[in-house]
Amino acid sequence: MEIFTRTGAEMLGRWGHYLTGITWIGLLYYFNFVQVPSFAQFEAPGRTEAIRKLVPRALWWFRWGALMTLLTGIWIILAQPDIGDYFDSPRGVAISTGILLGVIMFTNVWAVIWPAQKTVIASAERVAGGGEADPAAAPAGRRALLASRTNTLFSIPLLFFMGAASHFAPVFDTESNQAPYWIIVVVLVGLLELNALGRLGGYGPGPIRKYMDSHRDTIIVGFVLWAVLYVLWELFF
Ligand code: HEM
Repeated sequence: MEIFTRTGAEMLGRWGHYLTGITWIGLLYYFNFVQVPSFAQFEAPGRTEAIRKLVPRALWWFRWGALMTLLTGIWIILAQPDIGDYFDSPRGVAISTGILLGVIMFTNVWAVIWPAQKTVIASAERVAGGGEADPAAAPAGRRALLASRTNTLFSIPLLFFMGAASHFAPVFDTESNQAPYWIIVVVLVGLLELNALGRLGGYGPGPIRKYMDSHRDTIIVGFVLWAVLYVLWELFF
């Protein structure tokens, strides 16, 4: 049976990657495009109830979906016949670009969004029990929002480069020097991530964080980032 061969194992990894990837990114889009704008219109008691009863469930699927997406991605890599050849090609550069974005997104989920949301949920529980809201909850919500918006932005080029690895990138070996490409990409993506982490002048509203104020602007900047990364990829490889 084909499924017990190396290609079968790779296909199982891809299948798992699709299932867990849509779970994670589907919920990411739900949070950004549906929940954030809806919660802004909720009355306070309704919002508190939703934060206690709906958000924890959504975050459970979200964060474990993120972990499983990462693990199934590693599974696909390990199922390659020659990992050295795999990375040393335009295909490898495409997938490494996707992985760079994916690993940052994964870290945002587990190191920023989830800890911040735990503070928000605990505060809602206190309010529901008749107590005062935790003053740390609003800043935590803001930290989670910036990381979540940045993940939405990154998901746009990520999906292109994930798909391009097998369906678009040439497969021949490349002699090109990859260093200039990676320096520009890491600086660009690094600046966007530093901005998400409040390292470029804090978390508050401001001109350099304007693209995170609305999901519409975030999506536009996501496509701009895709265009820049795509042109760089074509130029260097
Ligand atoms: C978190 C880190 C991630 C890692 C390490 C990773 C790794 C990989 C690898 C190794 C491949 C195979 C590329 C190839 O065809 O040679 C792949 C493909 C793919 N990944 Fe990811 N990935 C990650 C995140 C994501 C996310 C968040 C999504 C969004 C849904 C995603 C969607 C895809 C898709 C659609 C493909 C194309 C599969 C195909 O062509 O059959 N990945 N990924």
